[in-house]
Amino acid sequence: KLSVRPIGIGSCAPSTVITNADMEAVHDTSDEWIRTRTGIEQRRVLVHEGTRKIIGTDGEETETPETLRTLGIEAAKNALEMAGKSPSDIDLVICATSSPDDLFGDAPSIASAIGIEAGKCVAFDLTAACSGFLFGIVTASQFLTNGASQNALVLGADALTRWVDWDDRNSCILFGDGAGAMVLTRSDENEGLTGSEDGFGILGYAMHSNGAGYKDLNCIYKGEPKKISTPGEGTVVEDGSYDSMGMNGRKVYSFATREVPTVLEEALEQAGISVDEVDHLLLHQANIRIMETVASRLGMPMEKVITNLNKYGNTSAASIPLALDEAVRSGRVKKGDVIACAGFGAGLSWGAAILKW
Ligand code: ACO
Repeated sequence: KLSVRPIGIGSCAPSTVITNADMEAVHDTSDEWIRTRTGIEQRRVLVHEGTRKIIGTDGEETETPETLRTLGIEAAKNALEMAGKSPSDIDLVICATSSPDDLFGDAPSIASAIGIEAGKCVAFDLTAACSGFLFGIVTASQFLTNGASQNALVLGADALTRWVDWDDRNSCILFGDGAGAMVLTRSDENEGLTGSEDGFGILGYAMHSNGAGYKDLNCIYKGEPKKISTPGEGTVVEDGSYDSMGMNGRKVYSFATREVPTVLEEALEQAGISVDEVDHLLLHQANIRIMETVASRLGMPMEKVITNLNKYGNTSAASIPLALDEAVRSGRVKKGDVIACAGFGAGLSWGAAILKW
């Protein structure tokens, strides 16, 4: 059996910062309430007609529109650079997002923008809200382990601030935008997914969904009537748009604290790894209290928990690669470290993967 190895990570966040103090000016809220209930101090937000400076391949700096796609492109370039791979090495691109720039999918245009030639890879989006990145790396690992692909680029990118109700203080304080990317390669050696001591890559995983809970967190299609003058009385078709995000915060909180420890235990068991052998716990960055509860239920000290939620808020599918990128680049995560990752969110969906970096 072939195995899978993560070899590069990258991320990119929007230039605009909205602090809790800024939020105090918009809502009846306080920095103290937001920090103590969530752990968030500020979030990074894609703004209308925002721009960012990028350095082109010719070394020239140019001003470009800042969109979810441009964040994804920067994150992907950073991950490729760390991996030591060129765009032509990549034959699979998965973009996990629930808020693409293009409803038909951002993965193909990101693949093209980073320099992958036409027809040289398959690129598609995957929708699983805040579990998206976790589901994305597990999906990519299936293509790699069965030999269909050699090198995969998996992005987690979301711009949920475009879809929150900015008049709802319960939810708008939680979210930020961002993108992260990981390069995974196939190893022809019989390592990883084996649970062996020397194994690397994705050592074990577990994933679940429960559609009965979709009402607790969603962003629902809402069509406005539009009359077209077909013969006779005409036909009322729908002019498509989406409603703002709806969330029952307490229900999502209890779902996460109930299911995440269990799914992590499942993935650890599959990997043949004990809790004590885990070097880092990396959860979807939704709320520091969720992370504290999960760590405590697993019997893990908070020192092992990787978090950067304070700076970015909940960036949905981007949160795990955004936090992992910082942890790897700062030297906190070292080669050979075991990372227990878990994503959870709308769907409802949740999953865990045990990675050996
Ligand atoms: N500022 C001040 N007060 C507030 C704010 C705010 N921003 N928001 C809510 N409150 C008030 C409420 O109105 C309520 O007042 P009341 O008692 O007078 O009605 C009070 O604070 C307490 O509200 P709770 O809902 O009990 O607060 P809680 O401690 O549960 O924290 C929170 C709310 C932070 C939303 C929490 O439930 C949570 O983090 N849930 C998980 C949400 C989440 O992670 N969602 C994303 C999942 S990922 C994905 O797929 C997108």
